[in-house]
Amino acid sequence: MRIEIRDPGKKAARCGAYVTFAREAAKGKKAVALAADEVREAAERALSPSGGADGSLSTASLGEHGPAHRLYQFGVGEAESLSPRKARTLLRSVVKTLGKNGERSAIVDFPFSVERMDASESREFVLRSLFLSAYAFDRYKSEKKKGERNGLDLVRVNGGRGPWEDVPARAAGLEMLEAAAIARVAALVRDVGNKPSSDLVPRQFAEWARKEGKSRDLIVKVLGRKEIEKERMGGLLAVSRGAEEEPRFVVMEYRGGPKGEPPVALVGKGVTFDSGGISIKPAEKMGEMKWDMMGAATVVGIVLAAADLGLPVNLVALAPLTENLPSGSAYKPGDIVRFRNGKTAEIDNTDAEGRVILADALDYAGAWKPSVILDFATLTGAAIVAVGFEAAVVFSPDDSLVAGLVAAGERTDERLWRLPLWDEYRDNIKSDWADMKNTGGRWGGAIHGAIFLKEFVPAGTPWAHLDIAPTANYDGERAGYPAGATAFGVALTLRWLRDRTALKKAADGPH
Ligand code: BES
Ligand code: MN
Ligand code: ZN
Repeated sequence: MRIEIRDPGKKAARCGAYVTFAREAAKGKKAVALAADEVREAAERALSPSGGADGSLSTASLGEHGPAHRLYQFGVGEAESLSPRKARTLLRSVVKTLGKNGERSAIVDFPFSVERMDASESREFVLRSLFLSAYAFDRYKSEKKKGERNGLDLVRVNGGRGPWEDVPARAAGLEMLEAAAIARVAALVRDVGNKPSSDLVPRQFAEWARKEGKSRDLIVKVLGRKEIEKERMGGLLAVSRGAEEEPRFVVMEYRGGPKGEPPVALVGKGVTFDSGGISIKPAEKMGEMKWDMMGAATVVGIVLAAADLGLPVNLVALAPLTENLPSGSAYKPGDIVRFRNGKTAEIDNTDAEGRVILADALDYAGAWKPSVILDFATLTGAAIVAVGFEAAVVFSPDDSLVAGLVAAGERTDERLWRLPLWDEYRDNIKSDWADMKNTGGRWGGAIHGAIFLKEFVPAGTPWAHLDIAPTANYDGERAGYPAGATAFGVALTLRWLRDRTALKKAADGPH
């Protein structure tokens, strides 16, 4: 799908559809058409008394000379502004409805502001949502559903309206390219996540990362089993022992920032399938564990997108990749693992494998002397128990780092909620035999995952752990996301990186 910012004053080829919105008025009053002047008359004529109701749709012909053939007017209910979730849901239903009706091109008039976002963030959000609302993972379907295959080729968003008010066309066009770049990478991240584990073993994930990285001139290094052994990554080796497929460790670097500036390290959990291992999971929904590599996909995606945007930052993505399977060679409860940094852990439960592979990766990140480490992991079911599906959970000893990440997420609608990381929890992962064990008992499971990881963060390096289990993938269409991978965290981190660069620049002052 191509998106343009339209100058309504300029003549252009007619589109098939013209999308406008209508608001429900207070009781007894008429619904309000929010259409721009050029189609207002038709919009008002088409509007029935209930036409502003949330989810309603009224249509009209725009005659021979209008900017499009057909008008589609979507009701949004009473709200003055839209929450991000509502905006995303609305845009997805617009794109789907038009696709089903066989439309190929559409003008979209978006007159709303989006809550929690300033105008520029709203523009990026609306465009990203539009791009991604056309996303479908249908490569395994032999017969595609009608409408989903065709769909919109061209969307022309009205300039000068809503968040585009007072934005010069050229600037709006450049922003649009950025939003498109982020959306394109988010779709890549979703694609790799949605692949079944039979087509995405660690080797194949690494090949994917290498291909995408090389095409952007990034530095990509893939460690195989031998090299992982050489690095003494005992955690990654232990988890991978039960699998026939060999582990991999992907390192991807982007140097867009000042030479010698310490990079931001992004560490991602890459378990391409998590059966639980010897501590095997129940059969129900085990298939969802094909998404247990979303942390790894997220960090690779962030680096790809940063390169596409040409951000002036240095980044390194680090992704340990393995399957977690039971077999005669699998690691077992009671085993003691020795990690790259020399620490040891008693394996209490082989299903707490994410922290075991991330331990080595966090420690390895120290080799880049990063200014900060962020890790992304579908680490615990307990994070979902804690916050449901509305937020991912963030942990960090560093208040200002948390504040920056939370603020970024509010503005991309990838919300984060902090849970504590107090030393008091450390007692719960004490082991009689080793430096620690890999679980902390029944309660506070997400916290114990974070407490375990903290043991492996290079001393003195600011670090945050994002447990994305709640938001990495959804088991059905939800909040304007399709079923499957969401790419949660990609836009958030890019926002955070851009904020951080701007802050730094301001602090450095003019030279
Ligand atoms: N990958 C899972 C966490 C998970 C569960 C993600 C459900 C998404 C949905 C992780 O490896 C795991 O199994 N964690 C265990 C930890 C426990 C054994 C301490 C969990 O959450 O049950
Ligand atoms: Mn597990
Ligand atoms: Zn897992």
